[in-house]
Amino acid sequence: MSNNRLIAAAWAGMMILIGGALLASAEPKGAATQPAERKFTPVLDIEGLMEGQEIVFATLRDLIKDKKWDDARHLAGVLSELGNVNIHHGTEADYIKHAENMSKASANLAKALRKREEPEARKAYSEVNAACQACHDQYKDH
Ligand code: HEC
Repeated sequence: MSNNRLIAAAWAGMMILIGGALLASAEPKGAATQPAERKFTPVLDIEGLMEGQEIVFATLRDLIKDKKWDDARHLAGVLSELGNVNIHHGTEADYIKHAENMSKASANLAKALRKREEPEARKAYSEVNAACQACHDQYKDH
């Protein structure tokens, strides 16, 4: 190999190395940069959560009555999220299932509210109520 060829080969090798380093730095870092898994710590006890949930639920009824469809839909989403939070209060599989059902029923209500039709909204609302009751029948002693 002549000197010129050696230099060319070394040059090409360096370019490959630099290219590789650039590619590697452009790749997402993946798991290493993800925030650490955080443990969920509720702010409220069940009673506190329920008292707030009751206000959300009653306000939803009024919003549906007043045909404030967008506000009702957003609040139904919040109620669904509260059901999601309630899951973390559960230790028994049944409790968790009831909380999931209430969350799903509220998400269905939010979906129904997009149609802006009172009969359908009322029906979906009463299904949320049934999901609240199902858990209370099993877990609320008054
Ligand atoms: C997964 C179970 C579960 C679901 C679903 C649930 N609740 Fe409850 N709720 C409870 C339990 C348990 C209590 C008793 C809490 C206590 O007094 O310590 C309770 C109590 C309550 C109370 C009485 C709070 C107080 O001051 O003692 C209200 C009001 C209430 N729930 C409203 C609702 C509404 C409205 C829904 C549905 C949108 C709902 N709950 C869904 C478990 C549930």
